[in-house]
Amino acid sequence: MQNSIIKFERVSLQYQQGPYIIEDVSFNLYPGTFHYLIGASGAGKSSLLKLMYSGTKDYRGTIKIFDRDLRYLKPQELAHFRQQIGFIFQDFLLLDHLTTLNNIALPLRLRGEKWSECRKKAQQMMKWIGLEGFEEAMPTTLSGGQKQRAVIARSIMNKPKLLLADEPTGNLDDENAAKLLYLFEELNRAGITIIMATHNKDLTAEFPHPIISLAEGKISIQSPRGYEKVANNA
Ligand SMILES: Nc1ncnc2c1ncn2[C@@H]1O[C@H](COP(=O)(O)OP(=O)(O)OP(=O)(O)O)[C@@H](O)[C@H]1O
Ligand SMILES: [Mg+2]
Repeated sequence: MQNSIIKFERVSLQYQQGPYIIEDVSFNLYPGTFHYLIGASGAGKSSLLKLMYSGTKDYRGTIKIFDRDLRYLKPQELAHFRQQIGFIFQDFLLLDHLTTLNNIALPLRLRGEKWSECRKKAQQMMKWIGLEGFEEAMPTTLSGGQKQRAVIARSIMNKPKLLLADEPTGNLDDENAAKLLYLFEELNRAGITIIMATHNKDLTAEFPHPIISLAEGKISIQSPRGYEKVANNA
């Protein structure tokens, strides 16, 4: 049996003394899969993603990502751990004082690569993602869809194994949302495991992938009809 890339064993999360956001939840996700994460506003989708990138240690149970038990991840190991993950979150915006190209090149620079090398790779990435010609544009002059593509480009520069996207189509029109899904499917075919939180039912119907539903602290995973069973509720 293939090792899971994400393993939750009896995981619970509550903020302070509030209600359980996640209550005694166990599941495995396998490398190369693509899951949507759905649930009402406030159900805990962003919180579940936060647990996956070790954004909090304030949980009960066991979480293993890339076979690492997050409980024992040392503070000095966190940066390296997160370099294996691409984030598309509303909080991780582009830096306004850097050009689009330099924003996209930044993750490689932070890893210590030479600027000239980083910029060359960022240029290739921009071409691939359809942002050619916007290299020297400042982020504030980009459209919403262009910004979104720039954020995606930046998030995949490090060739992550896992991509966590929190409502990435939130401010896109239908056409750009569909383009983003084509892009995600291409990344997924290249081997990146994807989890995408979304409210967009049209999109999940048009681009079928297994769905993790979150409600009242519990999760269930459904695979669309005809889709190979790739995840199970352990
Ligand atoms: N840092 C925090 N401290 C206290 N409560 C929090 C914190 N973060 C989230 N919550 C609460 O936990 C619950 C789940 O929030 P979360 O952001 O995970 O929901 P969500 O499913 O992502 O919602 P949305 O669809 O609106 O983005 C909410 O009731 C929220 O108020
Ligand atoms: Mg959220």
